[in-house]
Amino acid sequence: MTTTTEAEKRRGAFSSRTVFILAAIGSAVGLGNIWRFPYVAYEGGGGAFIVPYIVALLVAGLPFLLMDYALGHRYRGSAPLAFARLRRWTEGIGWWQVAICVAIAVYYAAVVAWSIRYTGFSLTQAWGDDPESFLMNDFLQRAEGVSFTVVPGVLVPLALVWVVTIAIMAFGVQKGVGATAVVFIPVLLVAFTALVVQALLLPGAVEGLDALFTPQWAALLEPGVWGAAFGQIFFSLSVGFGIMITYSSYVGRKTDMTGSGLVVGLSNSGFELLAGIGVFAALGFLAQANGVQVTEVVASGIGLAFVVFPAIISEAPAGALIGVLFFGSLVLAGITSLVSILEVVISAVRDKFELTRIRATLLVTVPAALVSVAFFSTASGLSVLDIVDHFVNQYGILLVAVISTLAVAWGVRALPGLAAHLNRSGSVRLGRWWYVLVGGVIPVALTFVLVQQLITDLRTPYEGYPMWMLAVFGWGVAVAAILFGLLAGRSRWKAGTAVENFEAEHDREDAA
Ligand code: ALA
Repeated sequence: MTTTTEAEKRRGAFSSRTVFILAAIGSAVGLGNIWRFPYVAYEGGGGAFIVPYIVALLVAGLPFLLMDYALGHRYRGSAPLAFARLRRWTEGIGWWQVAICVAIAVYYAAVVAWSIRYTGFSLTQAWGDDPESFLMNDFLQRAEGVSFTVVPGVLVPLALVWVVTIAIMAFGVQKGVGATAVVFIPVLLVAFTALVVQALLLPGAVEGLDALFTPQWAALLEPGVWGAAFGQIFFSLSVGFGIMITYSSYVGRKTDMTGSGLVVGLSNSGFELLAGIGVFAALGFLAQANGVQVTEVVASGIGLAFVVFPAIISEAPAGALIGVLFFGSLVLAGITSLVSILEVVISAVRDKFELTRIRATLLVTVPAALVSVAFFSTASGLSVLDIVDHFVNQYGILLVAVISTLAVAWGVRALPGLAAHLNRSGSVRLGRWWYVLVGGVIPVALTFVLVQQLITDLRTPYEGYPMWMLAVFGWGVAVAAILFGLLAGRSRWKAGTAVENFEAEHDREDAA
């Protein structure tokens, strides 16, 4: 047995391919699927959106997922370690991804916390006649600009989310991350399917589905629609920010990774479609109940979950059940994704400093929890969340995705080696088509998307927020993540750690 294998055991591992697939689906299926996809699809041409969506999935999402898998599985490390083993100069890309995950984790936890509260609110319909005013004034006690008044109604569930998540992370890769997915994902599937069935039985459901699926072909001519499809796929599939690199480093060496990638990718999109159907059936009901068009009730993200859904819950028969299923699903889907986002950071810190699982977990999660509580249990949480979400997705995930494909495909010319690695045990053969997609199509398509978005964001301040808030929480966070990557990428590894010796050891393993 080589030292690499012993080191791997210490790092942690999933007990089987099934656990890995469930954990990867748990990561992929999250807020992005439930509250983002239905609206993005509707805005992007309804039934016609299927075209950019499938194109983005096939030419970018799945090929990128396989690159992430190849890096993690071949180089057996967290994002920074995997990149450092690929070539020392690419390590910073991994740290950049780590920084992005920190930024996402602190706000993602807040949304899960709100969902916990709203699961309870559903039972009594605590929002009364005006869910929007309830959300802003009673629940979040929203203030203009920055305010550090602590809102106890948010603080308590947020602290709970962090305690639960820290416990899961402390249990480690199999007993914590893996076991959570094994329990949560089947429950989520059952709960969400029950929700969709109930939504489909509501009067007006068919009009909702009509609104979602009627193709608006003209939308395909808008570059923004294609951008939205690519952005959606990357966030939703959890690719480009280190998660899949990290998870695949915990998978047995002889595992079929390409087949696993297809299962994960298709499950994620399947869930997305299910969410679209459920959400629009419910919106159709709301529109009919109020005698308005579906266009007048659609919303995305926070508005959809915490304003429109409460209205549906108040008006629908068995509304409390719909509420518990909907918000409960957000909690389950959110926790399994939050866990994966944090695992990127914990795994990186562990690899770099050779810490025990518990120490690395505490070192990462306690400060993250404090920042999360400081920002998101205060009265300006909502604006900060919205800004960080927008900027980190665009100028974090999509930008690091471009840079990593360029580095891997052109800087290191690693694609043939990575393909050979996956082909050894994979059920789908990677060949030239994969090099063309990863080295050509993905960076070109994502650059196009980014430039479009940049023009928009420079012309119009995002959602009309004050410039200084956009500068600090938007551009500031995105640039800080890059700087952190550049700096951390230059840091030293302890002498004798696996970075230097990896190649020789790995080749011996392969030959065995
Ligand atoms: N992939 C996760 C989501 O969709 C992050 O929310």
